[in-house]
Amino acid sequence: MINVLFVCLGNICRSPLAEAIFNHQIKEKKLLDRFSSDSAGTSNYHIGSDPDSRSIVSAVAHGIPMIHKGRQFHHLDGKKFHYILAMDKNNSRDIIHELGMKHEGLFLMRDFDEQFKGADVPDPYYGNADGFENVHQILYRSIENFINFLEEKDRENAAG
Ligand code: 4NP
Repeated sequence: MINVLFVCLGNICRSPLAEAIFNHQIKEKKLLDRFSSDSAGTSNYHIGSDPDSRSIVSAVAHGIPMIHKGRQFHHLDGKKFHYILAMDKNNSRDIIHELGMKHEGLFLMRDFDEQFKGADVPDPYYGNADGFENVHQILYRSIENFINFLEEKDRENAAG
């Protein structure tokens, strides 16, 4: 099983949405036995909280269920997860700081976005519903590419 962790600041808007979209896509592709995901925040602001209701609405509008309780990223996550996907460069910096070492599976979410490689997933928290739909679109296409990347890696490993 390959474990993937999506990380943002609050763990109530972007990363739980990424987790929900990832889980939805691997279910559709019948890959649930090979990949699993979770999400976390670099801050302690929303530990134990449900996702932001605007994130839930943007997921459900696309037929995607979303259940998560906020938790804070911890350096031990570096041992549990093969891949850590940071939503923006601040998250990535904070992850590296918490880990205290390099992690070969650390990427920016939008390293997998052909339309704007390496950009930040914008923080929609202080915006409106349009911002959440925009984040949804960015995550949806980036995660499709990321899953293709994971499958390719899996094939390479199987081939030895
Ligand atoms: P997220 O959005 O990092 O995508 O979950 C935010 C949620 C809460 C806050 C900031 C960003 N906040 O400052 O409380």
